[in-house]
Amino acid sequence: MNREIPQVAKDLSGKDKVRVLFVCLGNICRSPAAEGVMRSMAEERGEAGRYSIDSAGLYGGHAGELPDSRMRVHAYQRGYRLDHRSRPVRVSDFDDFDLVVAMDHSNYDRLRGFAPTVETERKVVKMIDFVRGFPQFDCVPDPYYDGAEGFENVLDLLEDGCACMLDVLDGRH
Ligand code: 4NP
Repeated sequence: MNREIPQVAKDLSGKDKVRVLFVCLGNICRSPAAEGVMRSMAEERGEAGRYSIDSAGLYGGHAGELPDSRMRVHAYQRGYRLDHRSRPVRVSDFDDFDLVVAMDHSNYDRLRGFAPTVETERKVVKMIDFVRGFPQFDCVPDPYYDGAEGFENVLDLLEDGCACMLDVLDGRH
């Protein structure tokens, strides 16, 4: 396991308002689930007002759609209601958000390439770098072609990673 909390996230710990964009390929499974988990955890901590949370996809083919019904069902069983509508990543996202969080290596490489400046490229981080457990994973894997286990696995990784990310942004790392 080779993970390190990104410095760019630690540097946000003193900021009044923090804007986080989660990104995957289709924006119908992993990133809308991350958005829902993060928002719910921020609410539980009484910190919802500090965060602006959204998600987007590198592939625009599902634009306008709700999350995949399997993702919604598994998330709902854990108390998360996912109602995001899929949208593609925009160049302006790199200015509009403080952190752009990639679910896998391909997302990460493409986002880094898409970032308009060196400063905005630094905002791109990997979700897995915030995950404390699950040493067998080096990314949040695409569950689209998997069964129920893949969706549960995504939620396990996201709950761990979002809790840690909120701790980091609170200056607790
Ligand atoms: P996601 O999953 O990137 O977690 O939203 C996928 C959803 C759709 C496709 C691929 C991955 N697709 O190729 O349509």
